[in-house]
Amino acid sequence: MINFRLNGLEVQIEKGSTILEACKFYGIEIPTLCYHEGLTPYGGCRLCLVEIGEGDNAKLVSSCTYPVEEGLVVRTNTKRVINARKMMIELLLSICPQSKTIQDLASKFNVRKVRFKVRNDDCILCGLCVRMCKEQMQAGAIGIVERGYKKKIATPFDIRSEVCRLCGGCIYICPACQLRCQGPEPPTDVCNACLSLEPTCIENHDDYQCWMATTGNCGTCEGRPDQIKQKK
Ligand code: SF4
Ligand code: SF4
Ligand code: SF4
Ligand code: FES
Repeated sequence: MINFRLNGLEVQIEKGSTILEACKFYGIEIPTLCYHEGLTPYGGCRLCLVEIGEGDNAKLVSSCTYPVEEGLVVRTNTKRVINARKMMIELLLSICPQSKTIQDLASKFNVRKVRFKVRNDDCILCGLCVRMCKEQMQAGAIGIVERGYKKKIATPFDIRSEVCRLCGGCIYICPACQLRCQGPEPPTDVCNACLSLEPTCIENHDDYQCWMATTGNCGTCEGRPDQIKQKK
């Protein structure tokens, strides 16, 4: 077992565990995007950042790839961590604002604006589809090709793959394709229409009570600003 400090508590975890696995074990929620339990960690999205070390030596690392070491000091919710996560969400939103997964993350982390140029791409290069195809579907039909700005997911030579089984695994796991927002065109790059994902009425009444069309007019959750105006 490895002894380390997690958010001020002395804890233990099995040797070989990553910080993310240790956090999951101790019930600490860390947001992830390019991580999936059944696939090799990739460390691409940097959403799972946590702070390790102390004082001047403190630094941010991706918890999904960083192994827990003896005596390691880990903090998961410092100002620096939260700001870095929000910045990553902002960046991801600017790449792919149609992704409901990313819009939901923006809502959850209270990201209210996008300061980067919006690209409206279809892919955030998280690599999940490539790992899914190779590791779970045993096909290896797709990969990351080119470099820098030209980087993209493609089949070899960009032609129809003979080894693809059309299983749909890559689409199923993609945070940019899967759950694409079906709602109305948001008024801004940060939609926030889904802030009522976990409406507090469910917590209070054990039932979804929205007779106000998720306008937030009951004051316990937030709805779309235009709808709120309409109701007033
Ligand atoms: S549909 Fe083809 S490319 Fe996608 S995971 Fe399946 S085998 Fe791989
Ligand atoms: S296509 Fe989807 S799963 Fe594949 S790298 Fe892009 S965003 Fe990730
Ligand atoms: S507006 Fe009120 S009733 Fe409607 S979803 Fe939100 S909390 Fe529930
Ligand atoms: S979930 Fe760890 S870097 Fe993406």
